[in-house]
Amino acid sequence: MTLPELTLSTRVNEALLAVTMRETLESLETRALDPSVRGLLAGELSSPEWQAFLVELSHVWNRFDHAVIRGTPALGDERIALLLALALNAGFKPYRGNKIVKHFKMSPWTTELSQTLRDGHFHTDLNTASEPPNITLIHCRVPDPTPGYGVLRVARVRDLLAELRRRGADKALRFLLQDCVTIVDDQSQGSWSGTMASESTIRFHPETLKAAQRRGASFIDPLEEQLETIHAAALAVSHPIELGMGDTLLVSNIRALHYRGECTAKYLDFPRHFQARQIHVLHLVDEPSWPK
Ligand SMILES: [Fe+2]
Repeated sequence: MTLPELTLSTRVNEALLAVTMRETLESLETRALDPSVRGLLAGELSSPEWQAFLVELSHVWNRFDHAVIRGTPALGDERIALLLALALNAGFKPYRGNKIVKHFKMSPWTTELSQTLRDGHFHTDLNTASEPPNITLIHCRVPDPTPGYGVLRVARVRDLLAELRRRGADKALRFLLQDCVTIVDDQSQGSWSGTMASESTIRFHPETLKAAQRRGASFIDPLEEQLETIHAAALAVSHPIELGMGDTLLVSNIRALHYRGECTAKYLDFPRHFQARQIHVLHLVDEPSWPK
């Protein structure tokens, strides 16, 4: 096993599709958020092939802190994101009360970080929360219309720190491992203060650091310089991950950073009608609990 990738078997594919044939997203979300019912829902997918998938996934996850699950184009539905997340046997993070799956379409007409076409940052999600979610799931509904764009990357904190040490980037290492910083989320108005990383954990988002700086927070060394150093090291220790329709990336939101490259839009009828990358995102609040 050299790549953190696995492919769903035909039987698992069919079991996932069978659930989407009979149940709405709203119904699945309601059931998945009830801890006593979630196990029953997962049980509906169970088969020898599903159990084998769980074992394979646990090996990949434990070794890489992320996993790419290759599906088929038929698995682009948002309900598949929720059903695949059941494999981790962890609590779902709800938003707006009882929703789980978020749907994003990239757009040339926004500066929102989740939807802009611009090159993103290596980051963790919801990093101003007192306890950020443990796992991020990104599921591809429609890939970027241009091959090679909208690619993902994952940089594990251990690999990132090793690379920074190799480069002698002492200021960036101190910034991550020792400095007490304040980070601010402009959208949620949330903020958090503390040390961003340890040898095995990290919370990090350049935009929340820049937002803190705009509000007057000061940093020991120039912020931009540290962010550039960290970005270059994260690029060096990561590889491009292209998701096709129905493919999924599971990534630790505690032990790794994730990144999304520049996206494109293909106009069908300028300016409003265009093809662009579409994804589903959800978060899990616990570490995975694998079958014994
Ligand atoms: Fe993210």
